[in-house]
Amino acid sequence: MRIVVLVSGGGTNLQAIIDGINNNTIRDTEIVEVVSNNANAYALTRAKENGINGKCISPKDFASREDFNRALVAEMDNLNPDLIVLAGYLVNIPSEMVKKYTNKIINIHPSLIPSFCGKGYYGLKVHEGALKRGVKITGATVHFVDEGTDTGPIILQKAVEVKEGDTPEILQKRVMEEAEWVILPKAIDMIAKGEI
Ligand code: GRF
Repeated sequence: MRIVVLVSGGGTNLQAIIDGINNNTIRDTEIVEVVSNNANAYALTRAKENGINGKCISPKDFASREDFNRALVAEMDNLNPDLIVLAGYLVNIPSEMVKKYTNKIINIHPSLIPSFCGKGYYGLKVHEGALKRGVKITGATVHFVDEGTDTGPIILQKAVEVKEGDTPEILQKRVMEEAEWVILPKAIDMIAKGEI
């Protein structure tokens, strides 16, 4: 299965996918390219270090959002992936791309959807919301991407305990380590094996 991974930041979820392919917990899968909207994303360094083609396609490099959208969709069409994985990707996916790749785009969100998701809930803000509400359990969700934000069909979820004294940073790290880096590779493996 040919996958493209879209990233914006540190790429720890990308690293989990790379590790999963290398230790064979993700079968029959090849990352054909990593695409970032951020030229400085450490995720691009991780790609390079692992011999994976990396590319920056940033809205800043285009005269309009429409031009960026066209360029992103064109890149996907060129690569012709079986699956597009959003791994900490913070740019809105063009609706044309959602339509063209229905049920072929998955996203990892660092909460148990439908809690703490949707507009404005990304990165640390998700964990700040969970701590503010005082939930005892949070976690992560892998879901198919549809036209909305974090609204597509849920594929996998994994719960994580919130602990006394947690800061957003401590909670984010636990959710990444105990949930995100487990269920994203697992979802890709299940899709590769036709189990979803
Ligand atoms: C993190 O906030 C993670 O919870 C979310 O995207 C952000 C960056 O992740 N999924 P990564 O380290 O770039 O994979």
